[in-house]
Amino acid sequence: MSELPLLSARDLGKLYGPRIGCEAVSFDIHEGEVLAVVGESGSGKSTLLKLLSTELAPTSGNIRYRMRDGVTRDLFALTEAERRFLLRTDWGFVRQDAREGLRMSVSAGGNVGERLMAVGERHYGRIRGTALDWLGRVEIDTDRIDDLPRDFSGGMRQRLQIARNLVTHPRLVFMDEPTSGLDVSVQARLLDLVRGLVAEMGLAVIIVTHDLAVARLLSHRIMVMRHGHVIEQGLTDQVLDDPREAYTQLLVSSVLAA
Ligand SMILES: Nc1ncnc2c1ncn2[C@@H]1O[C@H](COP(=O)(O)OP(=O)(O)OP(=O)(O)O)[C@@H](O)[C@H]1O
Ligand SMILES: [Mg+2]
Repeated sequence: MSELPLLSARDLGKLYGPRIGCEAVSFDIHEGEVLAVVGESGSGKSTLLKLLSTELAPTSGNIRYRMRDGVTRDLFALTEAERRFLLRTDWGFVRQDAREGLRMSVSAGGNVGERLMAVGERHYGRIRGTALDWLGRVEIDTDRIDDLPRDFSGGMRQRLQIARNLVTHPRLVFMDEPTSGLDVSVQARLLDLVRGLVAEMGLAVIIVTHDLAVARLLSHRIMVMRHGHVIEQGLTDQVLDDPREAYTQLLVSSVLAA
């Protein structure tokens, strides 16, 4: 593991016309670290993830990323081909809506196998074997391998999305509200699963959630956003147990009261 950050964002901003998506966001994330981004609806969380994953171009600021060869590069100076390569190999992106993160007309096994093929695996037997292994790891019955995700429950789809994203051993995974819209009991199992895999694989994760319990369970550090700005960041336990900002205090107390 390196002392250098895996990713550094500095003064990152995105305007949608006159409207602020996010502004002056700066942070570092290291390998093996889980960073939670929390804040109310419209605070800029998804905008930030889309900037970090280069889906959106920033209006200001920059993002530096340490590539597998150890060289730190400015993400927006990469070529399109280099960016696509990162998305296929180094990164995962677990979407809030599984329909955006899965190919709904491709079998469960195909959804996992496709990512392996994208990194060069060509051997059918190995692809199928690895897909079976990953379905098991995310607790999907292996006899569902040839079924389409459209026949899966919401929780199963999210687990399949996680398998599809982690099968290539990415170094950094973005997650946008991966558990929202699921039953509480399904949520809890999914979170346990994610926590186990993240720890075992030593992944860096940037997870967006409006649920402080999710942040508490999964993250080492937390960043609180409001109106597009980071208003507080620090170690998760410190921020949640002893928030400095009035707004964070309100967030924490409203959860406790709920
Ligand atoms: N494509 C867009 N065009 C114009 N404004 C946008 C666009 N996407 C987001 N915004 C605005 O940017 C701000 C931040 O939105 P964003 O989706 O990042 O918030 P969020 O924290 O992810 O909210 P939620 O919790 O509801 O998903 C909001 O004011 C939103 O209306
Ligand atoms: Mg959002």
